[in-house]
Amino acid sequence: MSADVILGIETSCDETAAAVVARATDVRSNVVSSQVEIHAKYGGVVPEVASRAHVETIMPVVEEALSVSGLTSDGIDAVAATHGPGLVGALLVGVSAAKAIAMVWDVPFVAVNHLEAHLYAAFLEEPDLEMPLVIVLVSGGHTMLILMEDHLRYRVLGATVDDAAGEAFDKVARFMDLGYPGGPVIDRLSADGDPDAIAFPRAMANDGWNFSFSGVKTAVVNHVRKNPGVAVEDVAASFQEAVADVLVAKARRAAREFGATGLCLAGGVAANSRLRDKMASAAAADGLRAFLPSRAMCTDNAAMVAAAGWWRLRADGPSSLAVGADPSLRLPVT
Ligand code: KG4
Ligand code: ZN
Repeated sequence: MSADVILGIETSCDETAAAVVARATDVRSNVVSSQVEIHAKYGGVVPEVASRAHVETIMPVVEEALSVSGLTSDGIDAVAATHGPGLVGALLVGVSAAKAIAMVWDVPFVAVNHLEAHLYAAFLEEPDLEMPLVIVLVSGGHTMLILMEDHLRYRVLGATVDDAAGEAFDKVARFMDLGYPGGPVIDRLSADGDPDAIAFPRAMANDGWNFSFSGVKTAVVNHVRKNPGVAVEDVAASFQEAVADVLVAKARRAAREFGATGLCLAGGVAANSRLRDKMASAAAADGLRAFLPSRAMCTDNAAMVAAAGWWRLRADGPSSLAVGADPSLRLPVT
């Protein structure tokens, strides 16, 4: 049996998402129901609230994904769901739904690693992406520098030693009362600010492969406290510039050191305009290919889960129905 068409399900954080994707490249539907408005009044994701919202939304979202795809259950060959990392209660909703649907439809269940799914977002839109590839995976929960040597084969070169890049965006935005999530707001405000207005620190830019973003966050807080009249746009643009500079500097150094042919962005922060521009220019200057997945594929979605599920199913076969949610799952490394 060739398992070509995968129903993907994603509920690891605050998006309830389902998608139908054929052969990890052909997106037939991609439905995302965001809980952002529900959590915004608390200034961040409230796990218990997220789980309840997933329970209410999961089946309508799955039905919509199926209906938009134009397929019936007969056309689905396997059901893939994110089983970690993420919020345990949120993950359980997607995993339980996926297992139940797989059993009823009598098709395989595939447990997908959320980080691997973010990496496969790039391949959805550019199936012939050449490897080895340096991927900067930057989300609300993770910041990793990854060398992808072949399909499903990764080396984690470095990771953040404190805050994730997205977490720094969210915390800086919260401190400045800009709302949640912070990344998109800071991105928008930065368009009217001067990125060179304030010289925020670029921690560890030229040494090693790890990252640290708690220093730049504290520097923003200190600067705003000392200069209460400072233009918010200049703070946003200068902070964003500092974060993007570090991410791009490490990516291009890693590409040189490990002989990668391209640079790639993944995860929610990869939607950032300045980071995308800088990564594209760096790649062009160094003779590398740059791949920047569309913004909708950078933030949490289920098309990337279906894509990663397709590759995993081919390599490892179906997952056992005994596989549960694993909130601290790591990227499988070679
Ligand atoms: O990948 P994602 O949707 O969820 C996780 O797996 O964490 O990433 C969410 C993170 C949040 O921290 C959000 O502020 C950030 O991605 N983000 C951005 C932008 N859009 C989302 N950060 C900077 N600029 C953006 N345009
Ligand atoms: Zn994510």
